[in-house]
Amino acid sequence: MKKILVTGAGGYIGSVLVPYLLKKKYKVLAVDRFFFGNFLKKNKNLSCLYQDIRTIDKKYFNNIYAVIDLAAISNDPSGENFSKETYEINHIARFRNAKLAKKQGVEKYLLPSTCSNYGKVKDNKIANEESKLNPLTHYAKANSMAEKDIIKLASNKFCVTIFRQSTLFGYSPRLRLDLAINGMTYGIFKNNVLPVMRDGTQKRPMLHIKDAARAMEYFLKTDNKIINKQIFNIGDNTANYSIIELVREFKLIFKNKFKIKWYGTPDQRSYSVSFDKINKIGFKTKYNAEYGILELINKFNKNKIEKKSINITLEWYKELENMNNVIKNCSINNKILKL
Ligand SMILES: NC(=O)c1ccc[n+]([C@@H]2O[C@H](COP(=O)([O-])OP(=O)(O)OC[C@H]3O[C@@H](n4cnc5c(N)ncnc54)[C@H](O)[C@@H]3O)[C@@H](O)[C@H]2O)c1
Repeated sequence: MKKILVTGAGGYIGSVLVPYLLKKKYKVLAVDRFFFGNFLKKNKNLSCLYQDIRTIDKKYFNNIYAVIDLAAISNDPSGENFSKETYEINHIARFRNAKLAKKQGVEKYLLPSTCSNYGKVKDNKIANEESKLNPLTHYAKANSMAEKDIIKLASNKFCVTIFRQSTLFGYSPRLRLDLAINGMTYGIFKNNVLPVMRDGTQKRPMLHIKDAARAMEYFLKTDNKIINKQIFNIGDNTANYSIIELVREFKLIFKNKFKIKWYGTPDQRSYSVSFDKINKIGFKTKYNAEYGILELINKFNKNKIEKKSINITLEWYKELENMNNVIKNCSINNKILKL
């Protein structure tokens, strides 16, 4: 059995990817600070390691077939608030992980990056892997820097693949409601109000979380000669939506029976992306927006989901920092009442 080290394994993607890899008969070493909790079910082929990727020891990379380096500050607003940490984690720590992996004889290193790196694509053009990046935020800049440094480590013995993911949607036990489709679906579920981010013309490719997991597993089993030192956009040519086009999808599914509430200031990021390259090596997505929306509604009903700060990445990081300060200010020898 091949062993995969997955960093950020407790996150939104990791909580779906890890069970999928276990099902596909891989062993997994799940590395995370587990800031959002640990939703990974016990399994004889899974071990969890509570470590920070900024300081992780090289010994954990021994006897690993591949690293999937998901750990990151995972969206633009969090990157703006925690910019120093975003460069430390998304760029420096993942570059360090890739170097440790190479040194310890790991065969493949997969860097989950983002289509956000395209920033604003002008004149309705479609960005492909060769397009010049235009990262507009600290999050996108840190990811672009990681891509640039890490791809140079590729060699005959060390396969490096970078994949730029579309904006994800779909259910994960570590539920993110700060992703466009997930947040919009929650609004309909909660009170029949669709929250729509201004001004609605911004374009984004969308990708179901199960397809993201499938793509990563596809890279694990694809011949290194095909994917080494390569960058792939992950998504589907039919899933480049403007937010207004997404509203139309919701109207079709819910027969127009909801109100619309605009929020935010106009989003500068707008990009349509080509997925021809990943299609050419044989990968196609399976799950469309409608599938994801209906799946989410089902899960929200079944699990009686109530939105909390833990479902909004930035709110939760701020809350953790505040809680940490409160605890520090009233503890003695790291203890509260039970001295
Ligand atoms: N979700 C999306 O739409 C999307 C789109 C494109 C790219 N991505 C990328 O995919 C990756 C995973 O995204 P996600 O949606 O699962 O995010 P997430 O925030 O749910 O997960 C990130 C995980 O990393 C962990 N983590 C953060 N800093 C750490 C550190 N220093 N050491 C150890 N663990 C740490 C967190 O505890 C969390 O479990 C990120 O790199 C993100 O940028 C996500």
